[in-house]
Amino acid sequence: MRIRLRRDWDSCRDSATQLAEIVICRSFVTNNTFTVQTSKHPTFDLSDLLDRWNALKLEVDSKLEECLRRRTADCPERLREAMRYSLLAPGKRLRPILCLLSAEALECSPSIAIHNAAALEMIHCYSLIHDDLPAMDDDDLRRGRPTCHIQFDEATAILAGDGLQALAFETILADTNNSTIAARSCLVLAKAAGAEGMVGGQVDDLQAEKTGGDATFLHAIHARKTGALIRASVVLGGIAANADSQQLEKLANYGDCVGIAFQIVDDLLDVEGSSKNTGKRTGKDQQRGKLTFPGIYGVQSSRERAEQFVEQAISNVDAFGPAARPLKQLARYITARSH
Ligand code: IPE
Ligand code: IPE
Ligand code: MG
Ligand code: MG
Ligand code: MG
Repeated sequence: MRIRLRRDWDSCRDSATQLAEIVICRSFVTNNTFTVQTSKHPTFDLSDLLDRWNALKLEVDSKLEECLRRRTADCPERLREAMRYSLLAPGKRLRPILCLLSAEALECSPSIAIHNAAALEMIHCYSLIHDDLPAMDDDDLRRGRPTCHIQFDEATAILAGDGLQALAFETILADTNNSTIAARSCLVLAKAAGAEGMVGGQVDDLQAEKTGGDATFLHAIHARKTGALIRASVVLGGIAANADSQQLEKLANYGDCVGIAFQIVDDLLDVEGSSKNTGKRTGKDQQRGKLTFPGIYGVQSSRERAEQFVEQAISNVDAFGPAARPLKQLARYITARSH
């Protein structure tokens, strides 16, 4: 695959570093062009995606800022600081961007889904704060910074996560004009974040550290702990854009595939990546006895499986035509990312 970014690499390096230092087999920078080559796929150009991603990320961050400003003014200062510290830290904002691009795939303005997009990032951020706690993955580095419980303290980190979870639902309910869309969005988000979704996946992930598990268990863990929220991200974009049930099903299928592929690559980055690129510790999954794709299938086969899921994701949004091009590009980015 050749991926060509038709823009000045240096000028976009900061955002692109956050977004994708795309290295699969070999990469090289030539005059104003960033090229990635792999053996398998045809030429693929991600330049538009980088531009869109950066622009949408600004909109998401400004919405997150506004939500914190408006809805945490009257809360204890330490809690406000901890929520802000984690929520505005330099993450990729993948879930909100999936949500906005799904609305766009249905030929709506992405901004129609901005409240849902912000809520998704809040839930995701809360899950990261809790994931890093000593009782869970016990990590000290996140998004290139000390984790919330290291920067503040454990109780504050737990409560900052709780605060962000509630803020997500408050944001949708308070900011969405259409109460039916708000209610449907909250229902989907609650289901994805809850015991049958992300939280359930996290429980199984921790359980598997002790008991191990087979490929079926591994797939179920990844589908829940990461896949559920990614699926909800595209569905929430569709709901905001008033999608019909067939459109929602296609988006959900896309989200399922992207979700699994995303966590496979997260597992691979723990083996092959660096803290410098990922902003978090690497080499920890094996140390903790996590059930992972490279652990079960090996590195090469895991990468091939991730690429298969990406192809499947892309075919699920074919029917949306050119409006779904950014969603397709984003699916490609999932396996191309290095952080
Ligand atoms: C990390 O998610 C946790 C997983 C579910 C794998 P991201 O890789 O999207 O983290 P940020 O938001 O960019 O920090
Ligand atoms: C985290 O999975 C999933 C959630 C936060 C729900 P990981 O534990 O693999 O994520 P990282 O590697 O710490 O980001
Ligand atoms: Mg974890
Ligand atoms: Mg973790
Ligand atoms: Mg991981």
